[in-house]
Amino acid sequence: MNKIISNVLNELEIQSNLEKNRMVDINPEDRMLAITKETGELLNMILRLKNAKNMLEIGMSVGYSTIWCAEAILENSGKITTIERNRNKIERARKNFQKANVGKAIDIKEGNAMEILKNIRNKKENFDLVLIDADKENTKKYFDLILPMVPVGGVIITDNMLYPEKYREDMKKFSDYIKKNDSLRTITSPIGFGEEITIKIR
Ligand SMILES: C[S@@+](CC[C@H](N)C(=O)[O-])C[C@H]1O[C@@H](n2cnc3c(N)ncnc32)[C@H](O)[C@@H]1O
Repeated sequence: MNKIISNVLNELEIQSNLEKNRMVDINPEDRMLAITKETGELLNMILRLKNAKNMLEIGMSVGYSTIWCAEAILENSGKITTIERNRNKIERARKNFQKANVGKAIDIKEGNAMEILKNIRNKKENFDLVLIDADKENTKKYFDLILPMVPVGGVIITDNMLYPEKYREDMKKFSDYIKKNDSLRTITSPIGFGEEITIKIR
């Protein structure tokens, strides 16, 4: 990986740990809540395996996951559409993208994910990979909205299937819901905070 991008990712990992361990004074709603490094590696590998050109992210925060994905998708001159409602985080993300020199691959949509997804749906866009990582209560609604935007062979990754534990029961119900759909294959992987990896097979 190029040094500039890996330096920015390292800095963000340090910042994320400081926030997690309450070693910096930051409003709870401004905390990064980033995916783990291993999840970043997983997303990056799937994007490469698929030669992905078009990705959607629900829940950008300050852009840690987005940079992991941009590093792969830029090789295909691809694009990431990413959604975030917190203005402070969007400002931080913009600076991080600039520092990592990945901004050209990223289209930030500011606002409420549900409304933005409905707008995107009307434009009939398709996404090779979708990352769902926003407000956990709405995970199933986001999944239902994006499923028609994913072509056969497309992948949906959902974070926080196993951790924090308070979400685990609802996330298990979500996984069971996906399993009932014949057009999908899904697995709950113990990578990171637990990643649901779902593929549309028909
Ligand atoms: C877990 S964090 C995302 C972390 C990011 N994917 C990463 O790994 O770096 C979830 C983010 O979703 C945003 N969010 C939560 N609910 C949202 C909503 N309804 N619409 C838009 N953004 C939302 C939060 O502000 C927060 O920054």
